[in-house]
Amino acid sequence: MAKKIPQPTTPPRERAFLVGVDIRGKEQILTLEDSLLELALLADTAGVDVVGELTQKLSHPNVETYIGPGKVEELKALAEETLAEVVIFDDELNPRHQRELEKALGKNIRVIDRTALILDIFAQHAHTKEGMLQVELAQYEYNLPRLTRAWTHLERQAGGGGGRAGSTGGVGLRGPGETQIEVDRRAIRKRMAHIKVELEKVEAHRTMYRSQRKRSRIPTVALVGYTNAGKSTLLNRLSKADVYVADQLFATLDPTTRRVQLPGDNLALITDTVGFIQKLPTSVVAAFHATLEEIAEADLLLHVVDISHPNALGQFQAVQETLEEIGASHIPMVTALNKMDRLKNPENARKVLEQFPKSVAISALAGTGINDLLLLVQEELFEAYVPVNVRLPYKEGALISLFHELGQVERVEHERGGVQMQGRLPGRLLAQFSAFQIKPNNGHKNGETLTADVEEV
Ligand code: GTP
Repeated sequence: MAKKIPQPTTPPRERAFLVGVDIRGKEQILTLEDSLLELALLADTAGVDVVGELTQKLSHPNVETYIGPGKVEELKALAEETLAEVVIFDDELNPRHQRELEKALGKNIRVIDRTALILDIFAQHAHTKEGMLQVELAQYEYNLPRLTRAWTHLERQAGGGGGRAGSTGGVGLRGPGETQIEVDRRAIRKRMAHIKVELEKVEAHRTMYRSQRKRSRIPTVALVGYTNAGKSTLLNRLSKADVYVADQLFATLDPTTRRVQLPGDNLALITDTVGFIQKLPTSVVAAFHATLEEIAEADLLLHVVDISHPNALGQFQAVQETLEEIGASHIPMVTALNKMDRLKNPENARKVLEQFPKSVAISALAGTGINDLLLLVQEELFEAYVPVNVRLPYKEGALISLFHELGQVERVEHERGGVQMQGRLPGRLLAQFSAFQIKPNNGHKNGETLTADVEEV
């Protein structure tokens, strides 16, 4: 009798070839080598096996194929030799690059870039309605200019349907493209408009919860950090909650909030947010604005840094840059230098600590340094005063009194419909005032009267 061969239950992983380019003079947070290491980790997280990599130094990208024609030939030979099915570029490719490269590499090899790969991971990790909608929107944002390519690309996907972010398909393909195979740009725009309306509804709901939280007067702390820094592990440690922790990039996509007891019997709400990463286009980041709003409205940022990572400083800077982009750089911040248990020489930790103001060395996994961290959070929220500049309409009389009562008022200016107040407030009160903050560079010229804004609020 013939022996039954067990059938594999999971489909074989795709084989990917990576390409990195060093553009001379272009400022980069990570070196080419580190950036490619990160790309390999991203590929692994997306469920793809890396079979090789190729790099090139250029003064500027080739208009047609990003890398030079000679390199394209080399890439084609290597990709064929290693049986690669997909080539992943570390930098963002424009639609023309993608098209020309696919033409040059032949029918059996797809070409995608870092952004498509990250979006694919997001699609796999989004679980809540809001998260899924945000990913879908980001994918459309990314795919719209690449639609011509998507047509030919998707025709090759035999039965690739499923139609939702997260459905199975080739890497960089999950999501909207599959359902939109028969539609034109206009239909996609219509769908995007629809998603935006849906998102607004979900956001309205979230805003309601947020204002409830603010009313509860419990200050909020947003965990921020480069992907894989250990934010979820720390939240678990702090709240003894069971948040999903994995040695993968972007294991957390949807924000999770937990109540945490601080020393001195105070409470804080701590929110885990999506991990940051370098080279993510602003248009894509914008699709996650609801999640990022959680950060922008926090009273305090708790920046988790994986200090055992060879490029911890580069990662720290990448996060700082994104915080600036989303308008959260004015929020007070403490830094947790995590994974101390992995440092061979803990003495080095002391030197590193000196580089970061308001920082504590911790191991979220082993539970060391947690008390010191909580003390620092307590101090920032309840003992330290933060400079604020707000414009409060007269109908917010309670807030005006609160500022006078608990804050240190430095300047008061009455305007039509309200009052502009400058001074210092305890960190825990910031959230209540955040909607009225006068942000630097908010488009108003110095000296311009702002009464219209006061009336609007
Ligand atoms: P994203 O969801 O990608 O943003 O990641 P995250 O920042 O939430 O990281 P997560 O908590 O998922 O941790 C990533 C990996 O680092 C997991 O394998 C953790 O077990 C590990 N890790 C976290 N903290 C520590 C630590 O203090 N020491 C060591 N050795 N590993 C840690």
